[in-house]
Amino acid sequence: MFITVFGQKGGVAKTCTSVHLAAIWAHQHKKVALIDADRNRSATAYGSRELLPYPVIPIEAAAKAARGADIVVTDGQASSNEEELKNLVEGSDIIVLPTTPQSRSLELTIEMSSLLNNYRIPYAALLVKVDSRKKSSAESAVEILEGFDIHVLNSQIPLLSAFESAETNGVTVDQSVDKRGRAHSRRMMGWYSYDKACSEIEELYQAHQEATRSVTPIGWDFTALENRAA
Ligand SMILES: Nc1ncnc2c1ncn2[C@@H]1O[C@H](COP(=O)(O)OP(=O)(O)OP(=O)(O)O)[C@@H](O)[C@H]1O
Ligand SMILES: [Mg+2]
Repeated sequence: MFITVFGQKGGVAKTCTSVHLAAIWAHQHKKVALIDADRNRSATAYGSRELLPYPVIPIEAAAKAARGADIVVTDGQASSNEEELKNLVEGSDIIVLPTTPQSRSLELTIEMSSLLNNYRIPYAALLVKVDSRKKSSAESAVEILEGFDIHVLNSQIPLLSAFESAETNGVTVDQSVDKRGRAHSRRMMGWYSYDKACSEIEELYQAHQEATRSVTPIGWDFTALENRAA
């Protein structure tokens, strides 16, 4: 499965999402590669201490590294360039659009979805940096996105300082410690929210595979010869 994490806006946790989706699947003993397709190379920087449970590979070296991987997660670059988008869609099975509940981020995800609707690729928005004190803004964000027929994952990623500490230390959020070296109390909330998102992404991918498999060209009969009525 090829998953691309993508969006038009900077700072919406594309890299954080790519790093954690890849980590969850790696923990499930899947062979995972994280491809860094962003020119700012933040996924590469995140993985530079070699503490992540999979390799982080720059896009230029992706072809060989992706061979043999069960799951390839690509940390895409913020862009709305049509040519880039077309290439990205062709190279992916499913696209994840991290979106914060803020209006600008919602607008850009809606815009992106209208571009993606030109292709037959499944995609879903993932609400990230959700402040637990502002539940209503996350609820209205879901309502707005769904109003535009955008599939929104049920899992929402909470806003947690544990994510920032994790990035500073080059580890995933489940191993996040504060400046004094104490484990962040809410770190597992962050981890499980990405775990749940992974299951939903797999389900969406499988549902799409089944839906496209059942669409057979008109007039074709795939029933085995021996099973056909005479
Ligand atoms: N759920 C979260 N809670 C708190 N901080 C977060 C969360 N997710 C990401 N961050 C932090 O937000 C910042 C931006 O995240 P990230 O680098 O993943 O965004 P990005 O979309 O990849 O940005 P860019 O467009 O620059 O590549 C980072 O400091 C990251 O640690
Ligand atoms: Mg990034």
